[in-house]
Amino acid sequence: MTTIGILGVGGLAALMVRGLQGAGYRLILSPRNAEVAARLAAEYGCEVAADNQAVVDAADGVFVSLPAATGAEELARLTFRPEQPVLSAMAGTGLARLHSVIGPARAAVSMMPGYANALGIGPSILCPDDAFWRPFLAATGPVQVFEDEASFTTAATFGAFSGASFVWMAQAIGWYEEQGLPSATARALVAATLRGNAEVLLSEDRSLPEIQREVITPGGISELLVTTLTARQALQAWDEALTRVLHRIGG
Ligand SMILES: NC(=O)c1ccc[n+]([C@@H]2O[C@H](COP(=O)([O-])OP(=O)(O)OC[C@H]3O[C@@H](n4cnc5c(N)ncnc54)[C@H](OP(=O)(O)O)[C@@H]3O)[C@@H](O)[C@H]2O)c1
Repeated sequence: MTTIGILGVGGLAALMVRGLQGAGYRLILSPRNAEVAARLAAEYGCEVAADNQAVVDAADGVFVSLPAATGAEELARLTFRPEQPVLSAMAGTGLARLHSVIGPARAAVSMMPGYANALGIGPSILCPDDAFWRPFLAATGPVQVFEDEASFTTAATFGAFSGASFVWMAQAIGWYEEQGLPSATARALVAATLRGNAEVLLSEDRSLPEIQREVITPGGISELLVTTLTARQALQAWDEALTRVLHRIGG
């Protein structure tokens, strides 16, 4: 059985461990944040190592979900085996920096939304392609592979897009609640609408302008919503926000 070591056992690690259930991996966790590590050991049968080096030593491959600000420094303190596969999910740590701190090991970088991966339907991106990590990520949802790191970094902004989408959904749900709809009804309505529309994008072979022409009646209520948002620069603000995220993660 392939053994995966996980360095950094917090929110993302907990979600990935859940998503990896049944995928056939043995999972060994770093001990810091003993509460989360103990919970994952109890719920999912993970093992908890004595320290970070013990995680690396026991693992065929190492998944890194350490804090983005300090994770590379921690990796530099550890000793990896030549060609040992190491996959980082740390936002903003590029391949060159990762290579420089894991020595002879084999570096790859990834990004994923997290929560949807726990349900087995979260997309991931991977750079460069790596036969060890592709099936690992695929166990938690569809994987897109990038050979070009600049494109990977642009795509990696989707981690923030995903997180922000929960805030956007909460805004809409909150508005329905304020108008008196029961919370469960508002939540189900917003979620099912977006799930349906996502399925249209994934399964229909039509361009976005064609789809929009079909669903946005001239002079209708969708158009009213869009023109109101556009007049307040609300849609254009997404471009500015994504660009700021891209700059933060090195693009
Ligand atoms: N959350 C997501 O869905 C998501 C998605 C994609 C990528 N990411 C990336 O994943 C990384 C982790 O994010 P997160 O949200 O999971 O953060 P988090 O909840 O803070 O988890 C990080 C964990 O690493 C532990 N840690 C800190 N220093 C350590 C060290 N030297 N050795 C071992 N463990 C150490 C922390 O322990 P303490 O609590 O004791 O400090 C914490 O348990 C970040 O780099 C982020 O960019 C997150």
